[in-house]
Amino acid sequence: MSSTVITKRVSVPELRARKNQEKIVALTAHNSSIARVIDEYVDFILVGDSTAMVAYGLQNTLSITVEQLAAHGAAVVSATSRACVVVDMPFGSYQESPELAFRNAAKLLSVSGASAVKIEGGAVTAPTVKFLVERGIPVVAHVGLMPQYLNTMGGFLAQGLDEESGRRIAADALAHEVAGAFMLVLEGIGEPLARKITKLVSIPTIGIGASPACDGQILVTEDILGLSGSRVPRFVKQYLDGESLIRSAALSYSNDVKSGEFPEARHCFGIKA
Ligand code: KIV
Repeated sequence: MSSTVITKRVSVPELRARKNQEKIVALTAHNSSIARVIDEYVDFILVGDSTAMVAYGLQNTLSITVEQLAAHGAAVVSATSRACVVVDMPFGSYQESPELAFRNAAKLLSVSGASAVKIEGGAVTAPTVKFLVERGIPVVAHVGLMPQYLNTMGGFLAQGLDEESGRRIAADALAHEVAGAFMLVLEGIGEPLARKITKLVSIPTIGIGASPACDGQILVTEDILGLSGSRVPRFVKQYLDGESLIRSAALSYSNDVKSGEFPEARHCFGIKA
C-alpha cells in the first residue's frame, strides 16, 4: 500500500494568528527551483516586485507587470506545498482606483494560485485594501521604505527617522489594520518606530531592515545566498557565498569540457559504463 503525505499550506488566518506566538519566517522567490528548496523553512514566500531587480537585472522595481508577477507566482505555487504564497501588486496596478486594483489582484491570484497580495502605500491606499478584503482578497500592507516610491523618496532611504514622519508611518500602519490587512511589512525604519507599530497593531509585523522588534522577518533570497552582486543593503545577513560557489562549479565544468573529462561513459547513451 502506498502512503501519501498530504502537506497543508500555511493559511492566511494561521499567519494572522501568529502575533505574539511564534516569529514568522519569510523569504522571496520568483522561480520554482529556489521556491522548492525554501518551502520547508519558511511560513510564507513573497513573489516580490524585487523580481524586477533580481531576475531581470533592472535598476528598480517599477517596470515589472501584473502578467510577469502572475507567471512567476504560478511557478512558485506549483513548486511548493507548505508555505503561504503572497504576490506583490506591481507599480501602477492598484493606485488608480479600488476597481482597477481588484481586477489586477484577482488576475494575480487566479493565474498564480497564490493566497494573498501585497500592496505598498500610506493611509491613502487603505480604502483600496478595504475594497479588496471585503471582496475576498487577503492583503499584506507594506509601509515605511516603499521601493515603488523611489522617485518620491529620492532613493532607497530609511524612513521615519524624525518624529513627524514616524508618526505618519504609524498612522499608515494603523489605517491598513483598520482597513483589514492581515499582515504588515515594515521596511527600512528604526527600532523604536518598529517596536511602537508592532505594539500598536494587532496584526503581525514583518520587518525588512526594521529591527528584531517585529513579529517576523523577510529578506530577498538572492541577498542571503550571495547572488545579488555588489547591491546588498546593510540590513542583509549573507548566509552563503553563492557567487563563489557558482563560479567554481562553472569553472570546473568548463575545464572538464575542454580537457575531455566530461562527459564520461556513464553520462552517455549506448556505451556500457
Ligand atoms: O519585493 C520585495 O522583495 C519586497 C520585500 C518586502 C522583500 O517587497
